[in-house]
Amino acid sequence: MIGTDIDLAARLLKAGQLVAIPTETVYGLAGNAFDTTAVLRIFEVKNRPHFNPLIVHTWSMEKITTIAADFPSVLQDIASKYWPGPLTVLLPKAETIDDLITAGSNYVAVRIPDNSMSLELLSKLDFPLCAPSANPFGYISPTTALHVEAQLGDRIGYILDGGPCRVGVESTIIRLNENDEIEILRNGAIGSQDIEKITGRAPVMNTISQDPLAPGMLKNHYAPSIKLLLAQNNAELLDLIEKFKDSRIAVLSFDTVLTHDAIVDQIVLSETGDCDIAARHLFSAMHKLDAGNADIILAVRVPDKGIGRAINDRLMRASLKEV
Ligand code: TXA
Ligand code: MG
Repeated sequence: MIGTDIDLAARLLKAGQLVAIPTETVYGLAGNAFDTTAVLRIFEVKNRPHFNPLIVHTWSMEKITTIAADFPSVLQDIASKYWPGPLTVLLPKAETIDDLITAGSNYVAVRIPDNSMSLELLSKLDFPLCAPSANPFGYISPTTALHVEAQLGDRIGYILDGGPCRVGVESTIIRLNENDEIEILRNGAIGSQDIEKITGRAPVMNTISQDPLAPGMLKNHYAPSIKLLLAQNNAELLDLIEKFKDSRIAVLSFDTVLTHDAIVDQIVLSETGDCDIAARHLFSAMHKLDAGNADIILAVRVPDKGIGRAINDRLMRASLKEV
């Protein structure tokens, strides 16, 4: 059921049930982080492998001590600037956090999301919420309550509807690595320049790992059920369209409308070439094109700066899925 009843959502969560919650990035599939049965149920409903750890969500900096054993000051500086917001920080876990949540790691991912309904909900609970994106494992993340209902509606009690997500791609994940460098584990709306501005140190990028404990990111993810191929630029996109002209083609374009007889469906992410707008539309566009009558989605990279990097990262991972 979809609705806007925060008290009902709180009651269900207190009773150990799962509720989908809105955040500024994507919708989350939330359960009581201090209730092992609820946490297990999250993995089950998403069909998510247990080696892929969960982000713990809370609503105030003071609550971090109930989740993490330590909060290095440089990470605190960054978090206090961007929380509530699209940032997740890896911290040494507190005893309260079950190994199941961290997939055996001593580090827990923590985030304060920027959505007034979810912040109110969290403040009514005396436990934090584990919340991965509310999609079946490996599939496109949801940015509306309807996306959640279509994918998981029959498996969860309630979907708290906060409207379409403002940012549209998942949070930036950072940690301090073994060399005491700030490392970005997943690109999101907060880019390396935003972090450098606060710390005076340029963060390093973690290269894609097949081992999610090393940590966090699987290579092929965020993928539609039909094949998606990614072009470097519009010229290459046109070549791809020509190459696949015997298929029914859906085009996921950045700022230009393309014309070809084989194109049966097309979405332009931002006619003005604005990456923030493109990010907001990205997953919705992938959902729509996947549900249409095309055989293949041909997409193009966007400018590789700021949130554009996060978009390219998601497109690249979607393109790696074997269909
Ligand atoms: O924006 C977001 O972060 C959304 C909303 C709902 O908050 N959540 C989200 O969760 O994207 P999920 O589970 O789809 O992605 C979490 C990522 C995964 O790649 C996971 O491996 C990584 O964070 N992660 C979580 N806990 C970790 C840990 N303890 N160590 C390393 N990576 C971790
Ligand atoms: Mg996810």
